[in-house]
Amino acid sequence: MSSKNSTPSHDHDAVIKPSREFSKNSRIPSMAAYKRLYQESIDKPATFWAREAAELDWHKKWTKVLDWKPPFAKWFVGGKLNVCENCVDRHAAGPRRNKAAIIWEGEPGDKQVITYGQLQREVCRFANVLENKGVKAGDRVLIYLPMIPEAAYAMLACARIGAAHNVVFGGFAAEAIADRLEDSGATTIITADGGWRRGKVVPLKPVVDLALESYQNVNHVIVVNRCHTDTPMTSDRDSWWHDDIKGVSTRHKARAFDSEQPLFLLYTSGSTGKPKGILHTSGGYLTGTHSSFKYIFDIREQDVYWCTADIGWITGHSYIVYGPLANGATQVMYEGAPNFPDFGRFWKIVEDHGVSIFYTAPTAIRAFIRAGDQFPDAYDLSSLRLLGSVGEPINPQAWNWYHRKIGGGKCPIVDTWWQTETGAIMISPMPGATPCKPGTATHPFFGIDAAILDDSGNECKAGEDGRLVIRKPWPSMLRSIYGDKKRYETTYWSDYPGLYTAGDGARRDKQGNFWIIGRLDDVLNVSGHRLGTAEIESALVSHPAVAEAAVIGRPDDLKGQAVSAFVILKAGNKESPELRETLRKHVAKVIGAIAKPDDLYFSPGLPKTRSGKIMRRLLKELVATGTISGNVTTLEDFSVIDHLKNQLSRPS
Ligand code: WTA
Repeated sequence: MSSKNSTPSHDHDAVIKPSREFSKNSRIPSMAAYKRLYQESIDKPATFWAREAAELDWHKKWTKVLDWKPPFAKWFVGGKLNVCENCVDRHAAGPRRNKAAIIWEGEPGDKQVITYGQLQREVCRFANVLENKGVKAGDRVLIYLPMIPEAAYAMLACARIGAAHNVVFGGFAAEAIADRLEDSGATTIITADGGWRRGKVVPLKPVVDLALESYQNVNHVIVVNRCHTDTPMTSDRDSWWHDDIKGVSTRHKARAFDSEQPLFLLYTSGSTGKPKGILHTSGGYLTGTHSSFKYIFDIREQDVYWCTADIGWITGHSYIVYGPLANGATQVMYEGAPNFPDFGRFWKIVEDHGVSIFYTAPTAIRAFIRAGDQFPDAYDLSSLRLLGSVGEPINPQAWNWYHRKIGGGKCPIVDTWWQTETGAIMISPMPGATPCKPGTATHPFFGIDAAILDDSGNECKAGEDGRLVIRKPWPSMLRSIYGDKKRYETTYWSDYPGLYTAGDGARRDKQGNFWIIGRLDDVLNVSGHRLGTAEIESALVSHPAVAEAAVIGRPDDLKGQAVSAFVILKAGNKESPELRETLRKHVAKVIGAIAKPDDLYFSPGLPKTRSGKIMRRLLKELVATGTISGNVTTLEDFSVIDHLKNQLSRPS
């Protein structure tokens, strides 16, 4: 089992309790209150979840809370709702009409405040545009946009008309888009000419054009003019967003959809080469995101919430779009980089907009620590009352700095463990109740029956490492892998039949806190982003010079894990620094810059077992320590290790 940061055992660690002031005003003000509600939610999940679902607007009430034929779940069976109405119309129709839904800031400094009333008009108008183009309920729409308000409008408009969106992170390359189009069968794309990142335009539409050279079933490409760049348009296929909305009504009557209507697909990396299209549906997903956002961020009418994730990831779906908007929250949305024009940008945004709840990733916190305290010190962060962390285990050093420097020692930190597949937060402190220790996500959310099992399926004792599982279905769980029920069953439900395996290693301490150790499969977590080693390997071998490749994660202070690649060249190719650079760039071209190997070593062979399996364990140990101390008796060719040791002692 690998550990990215310091391995926790921490029964003796200092415990940080929420202040009396914070607890007094929060929904769950004590551990006793948490335990009471948690017990009820586990003993009578249908009662608990029905009560949570009833906080949403339904056109038709469900007849049954859960239909569970393992591993296939249906939630709120027979119920009908419109997800977009729940996030927009019900607020626009009441006292929140002129409340800010989104306070948006572009990287160059342009700003927009979008009220719930305006959000309704924008979303309705764009829903009409999509329908005018023939997009129907059940269709798939690919969204490849920067962090601009149109991203939220596009997602909500799809939800409104019952089309499933597939948001692709703007850092992914053309082949990744083409693969997703192919797998999802999307026929409409919403993109922009580009987006701003570190003072430069990152082109998006040209990447879509490249993807469409290999996939030709797309009828419409709608393009937001974000950066006023010179963008070639294909006349019968491409149109500008601003032209499409001209003269189109800002009213749109929302239809009710079945609770199990697909809401979105989001592709994520697994241990094989092909990314999985995680399928989420409507009623259960919205119940889970609404409920978890309400309790875990303890949202109040006057809060200004800011999640720094990108909408291309699940965090952007659940905790920028659906969770906060379903709760009628005010939130900040920011387009650009944390260090533009300098590392003070985030703190300036906090001060300018009076952000009270701030949700970010440990990798960002580590980058801020490295940049220096002068940046946060220059701003007034006293509006903050609650902080959150997501994406990877937060190392105690980062936790303490975040608590002290950003939170002024007074803000609870919710370290939230969850996944693309779980849809919503599964393990997290309750900010007004849970005593925290830096590095643990603490206790399961309501209705979440989390446990840690050993290889034979027995529950681990305190302090023992095991596999993290969820023993009961929950409303925001994935319903399947798009188009591949078999893979859904084998990936998540076959380690322990009937139980969901998360793929993470974990342990509990004596107080029952969950400490997440990291992935157990061949999935890397680079700066909080999931990347499959097999995906990067297959990108490498798609280059004509490469015969074979192995990719592993190496511990990295900033990113959590860095990508180390080992490459065997085909005969006739010579190792050279130029070729190394070409291969690194090739991976960026095939998958995206986030997957570019940090180190790349050439090797005449790879350490393999006699049955031909690459021994990644040895490669990991080699890059982490420079040597091998473990058992190598199963190795097929010992000379490979010596060669690699020599390579590693030279800079890559
Ligand atoms: C890791 C992101 C420790 C974990 C929401 C998980 C975490 C994977 C935490 C999912 C956390 C996420 N502590 N590890 N608080 N949050 N992870 O699908 O390995 O992008 O399986 O979802 O990130 O990544 P994904």
